[in-house]
Amino acid sequence: MATNWPSWLPLRASLRTLSPYGAPQIPNVLSLNTNENPFELPGEVVDAIMEKLPQVLTRLNRYPDRDATKLRTLLANYINTASGTNFSQVNIWAANGSNEILQTLMLALGERPALGFVPSYSVHPLIAQTTGVEWRAGNRRENFTLDISYAIQEIQRIKPGLTFITTPNNPTGTNLPITDIIDLAKATAEINGVLVVDEAYAEFSDELSAVTLLGTHHNIVVVRTMSKAFAFAGARVGYLVAQPEVIDACLITRLPYHLSSVTQAIAEVALTHSTALMAEVAQLKVERERVCAALIALGYAVAPSAANFLLFSGFKRTSPEIWKELVDAGILIRDVGITGYLRVTIGTPAENERFLAALKALK
Ligand SMILES: Cc1ncc(COP(=O)(O)O)c(C=O)c1O
Repeated sequence: MATNWPSWLPLRASLRTLSPYGAPQIPNVLSLNTNENPFELPGEVVDAIMEKLPQVLTRLNRYPDRDATKLRTLLANYINTASGTNFSQVNIWAANGSNEILQTLMLALGERPALGFVPSYSVHPLIAQTTGVEWRAGNRRENFTLDISYAIQEIQRIKPGLTFITTPNNPTGTNLPITDIIDLAKATAEINGVLVVDEAYAEFSDELSAVTLLGTHHNIVVVRTMSKAFAFAGARVGYLVAQPEVIDACLITRLPYHLSSVTQAIAEVALTHSTALMAEVAQLKVERERVCAALIALGYAVAPSAANFLLFSGFKRTSPEIWKELVDAGILIRDVGITGYLRVTIGTPAENERFLAALKALK
């Protein structure tokens, strides 16, 4: 990876100090570092995909449905069933992971600065920088909750076009109450801004989804993904729920035929098996509470989490040292760059036991 860019390469000045995003991918270790779902796709979903694929493969000579109409209809149905809403495909946009959704949004709506509250998902500022959007970072409290009056003041002062809220927040797991989202939606509406609620981990939380507010707060855009709850990270499917005008804006900045026929078809199948997949989410929530209690019993402090990961602290040595010792023991968790903290993704019960045993065995 070049650090001193050569003069013949007309790289944009704003990109020269950046490095590619990426958590370490280390072979032959237990990966509890990228908040994936640890369960393989259930056999019934794999079988249904195998049944569907031949029809799709024979038609790979043709471009996919550019607007992914069927997939978007099924995503609308999924959200409606989960949240009691009444959306149709005009309220949904789908892309290759929610990261692409975020990029499409920034390209379309990023004229004014974008505001977020850190620590939060580090890809938000990265996408802002790569799409030429000015990024402004506000803070969270020391316990990672958000001071809403402060957040509103920042919105009034900076007047961002896009304000980002991640709930449950990554990397802290913190939930934002729906009443706070309403206040942020009002504050952003007053400055003609959009509130982007990144709900990548929504299915692991008991809080109401911000999609339930869309009828009354038109400037909310909810970003979701199939990577986590649907155990579909490798398929790359993310989506947003918003007013049709937001989708129209995304149609301008998306690449033509961005979502392959194969991706669309397999996501459609997975959505028709959401009940089986959500049963695994329930299991992961139980495991989250069990691992949290075990960490506390071992003397660690754990940030309250409504997601499929835990941020914990209270190490006898520095967090990078502990991270390295765990890697040496075959367990990969995440150093998210918050001094004194590490983040662990909830795995299967057996994987969580391996993680806890490795932690107990630390020197
Ligand atoms: C808060 C948040 N948003 C978005 C994403 C991106 O997910 P994907 O691009 O796999 O949909 C992640 C992934 O970890 C995340 O933590």
